[in-house]
Amino acid sequence: MKILGIETSCDETAAAVVENGPSTSSGLRILSDVVASSVELHQKTGGIIPEIAAREQLKCIVHVIEEALQKTKKIDAIAVTVGPGLIGSLLVGVETAKTLAYIWKKPIVPVNHLQAHLYANWLVPENKQQTNPRPELGSKANNKVPKFPAVGLVVSGGHTDLVLMKDHGKIKWLGGTRDDAAGECFDKTARVFGLPYPGGPEIAKLAEKGNSQAYDLPRPMIKQKNLDFSFSGLKTAVINLKRKQKSISKADLAAGIQQAIIDVLVAKTAKAVERYRVKSVLLAGGVAANKELRKQMQAQISSLEPKINLFIPPSKFCTDNATYIAACAFFNFKPIPWQKIEANPGLGIAGASIDKT
Ligand code: KG4
Ligand code: ZN
Repeated sequence: MKILGIETSCDETAAAVVENGPSTSSGLRILSDVVASSVELHQKTGGIIPEIAAREQLKCIVHVIEEALQKTKKIDAIAVTVGPGLIGSLLVGVETAKTLAYIWKKPIVPVNHLQAHLYANWLVPENKQQTNPRPELGSKANNKVPKFPAVGLVVSGGHTDLVLMKDHGKIKWLGGTRDDAAGECFDKTARVFGLPYPGGPEIAKLAEKGNSQAYDLPRPMIKQKNLDFSFSGLKTAVINLKRKQKSISKADLAAGIQQAIIDVLVAKTAKAVERYRVKSVLLAGGVAANKELRKQMQAQISSLEPKINLFIPPSKFCTDNATYIAACAFFNFKPIPWQKIEANPGLGIAGASIDKT
């Protein structure tokens, strides 16, 4: 089955075609992957202006879909992000997908953007399809698709959620941020330094030359037993530090911020793994592109007994794109009439399939 995925929840306009591999254990093949971003326009304002994001998406959605379908003319179904996200942006993708489903008479599957991030862990990158399916994750153990139950950590620009995935479509929310998301903390603290949006990659670059111990920054909620997070205090600590100290090493502060965020993310993930005795850990979302987080999460999960597999998508598939939207629909194939599909900006990660057990 070939699924066309459409993603427009934030400032990216993306379309991709994904196909199932020769067996369920071989992951999904990416036939096309097109992403257009309006990030340069938002850099001028230091953050996303929703109206501008949606207008840009309207301009390029048809071209992006056309390009994604260039190699693969025939598709079997459409998957579209319905939420969470910016309402204007979501509507562009949702209404386009509904129109195409109606004209082409194809089934359409509504997709939860946050759940979908996790499905980047079932994708096999285009250039790796013929050989080792997941070579860049290194270890032999990772050379397969994730096994359930799994703990998933989704760290994006707007969300930080820990979930227990008992199976496809069986997601239980374990904890999340009480204020800012991890990505938001990167973005907002970067702004304090005058760094461009998005701040995550900029802080990561600066941090390479910095000493993460140079400044004493808080690790909010790290000692608490719950699986929740809080990042706004870290942002405030950085603002106060910048106010109090006349000369600041940007590299050291960047390294300190990055390390404080990583420490909390790694500690809470390890706590969830120990509590729920899972077989896999899945990392996903834009912040999962962070090299230090990938390295330190790998070190922490490898040190746990009994051994479990950590899955981290290649960096390209951590930030927003449509490949994992299609992948999510493949494993949760519940088409509904196009007339019933609606954008839902406030959708939570456990969505309608919330599991309270
Ligand atoms: O998942 P995503 O592309 O969009 C949302 O769904 O929000 O995540 C975007 C977030 C931004 O906050 C960005 O700063 C962060 O991911 N990000 C990073 C890195 N690359 C992107 N954060 C830290 N290190 C990175 N290398
Ligand atoms: Zn996202």
